Amino acid sequence: MITYDDIRKNETINSYIRSADAVLDALMYTEHGFAHVGAVAHTAGYILETLGYPERDVELVKIAAHLHDIGNVVNRIDHAQSGAVMAFHILSDLGMDPAETAQIVAAIGHHNENTADPVSPISAALIIGDKTDVRRSRVRSYSSISEDDIHDRVNFAAEHTEVRITDDKTVLELDMKMDSEYGSVMNFYEIYLERMVLCRRACERLGLSFRIRVNGQQITRH
Ligand SMILES: [Fe+2]
Ligand SMILES: [Fe+2]
Repeated sequence: MITYDDIRKNETINSYIRSADAVLDALMYTEHGFAHVGAVAHTAGYILETLGYPERDVELVKIAAHLHDIGNVVNRIDHAQSGAVMAFHILSDLGMDPAETAQIVAAIGHHNENTADPVSPISAALIIGDKTDVRRSRVRSYSSISEDDIHDRVNFAAEHTEVRITDDKTVLELDMKMDSEYGSVMNFYEIYLERMVLCRRACERLGLSFRIRVNGQQITRH
């Protein structure tokens, strides 16, 4: 059986991840390389593990996380769909079970904002892991943060971000510490509203309520 570790050590895949991140660097996007896919795998794996999903599902969501942004080598637009097709070829060539490949392909193909949908628990966990990766170290150049680049400012403002599921397993909380010198909660909502709505829907798919807490203050009711 193909493991997350096999995928993480696969040089062909890692070459695509590096190339995809280079494309996004050229397009002035935030970091989408190994740190990003690692963070997504960590959060998505934590979610399914905590909720008691089978170990293999935890493994599959981590594999999906490692591969989810490779489509950016083709184009940023529709990168979820092109990445899903790339992942299909890679995993088929590696001999992965077709039913497992299909689960990963569906999750990757449904992870990006305008065409996203939490079509399965694996897909839901991938969406949450991806959309909650907001952190200072995703900003590529600390010295040149422009007033106009709201993505850079909000990411730079995020000193600490944590996804936590409550002990009773009813609520998933995104806990953020933001430095208001760089970005306000309002800025965060300006660019992340769509993503947070998606997180709420993904949480619902997993039977959870979604909460956001910024600087210790809860800013969502449910
Ligand atoms: Fe993506
Ligand atoms: Fe991503």
